[in-house]
Amino acid sequence: MAGFRIRQAAAEDARILADMLVEAANWNALRARPRVAVLEDPKVLRYVAGWKRPGDFGCVAEDTHGAPVGACWARLFPADEPGSGFVAVGVPELTLGVNTQWRAQGVGRALLQELGRLAAGSGANRLSLSVERANFAQRLYVSEGYITVESRATADTMVRAVR
Ligand SMILES: CC(C)(COP(=O)(O)OP(=O)(O)OC[C@H]1O[C@@H](n2cnc3c(N)ncnc32)[C@H](O)[C@@H]1OP(=O)(O)O)[C@@H](O)C(=O)NCCC(=O)NCCS
Repeated sequence: MAGFRIRQAAAEDARILADMLVEAANWNALRARPRVAVLEDPKVLRYVAGWKRPGDFGCVAEDTHGAPVGACWARLFPADEPGSGFVAVGVPELTLGVNTQWRAQGVGRALLQELGRLAAGSGANRLSLSVERANFAQRLYVSEGYITVESRATADTMVRAVR
């Protein structure tokens, strides 16, 4: 396994999370947009704007030099401004992204598992997410216990109980 460690995300990590949000939004290289265009999109920016606000929690993966290589975090959305993977008030919605050169080395799964542990500590009893069905990441989520609760045109909302 490649050398990385995972730590909790702090308020100072907004820039790192924004970087990983761009990775997540640009999961399909054929439709990738420049960073500035991604972060100007309010439907994307809402996942990091104002980080770290009450209810936010997450983790960052770093290489052996302390450089960030991935992040996974969760945020609560109100019913009148739901995220794409909103299922209910009080259910945090997660975002996951790993730097291109660090993919397929176990970072994403390790971050997802750590986020589950943090969710348990936060008092949440479920975690939700939205994933495009064409993204292999959906298979990762299924293998970590996430179940599809709603299907839209090209994306699914998935939920996992927090234990
Ligand atoms: C999705 C993502 C977070 C997964 O992180 P990762 O570190 O690459 O994944 P891991 O190395 O932990 O692998 C997880 C599983 O996915 C599989 N996998 C990894 N890369 C894959 C690929 N390109 N195609 C198909 N399966 C792949 C692995 O085989 C592994 O399964 P296994 O444990 O049974 O072998 C990462 O690839 C990424 O950032 N992608 C772009 C952003 C994105 O799609 N985010 C999610 C949006 S909902």
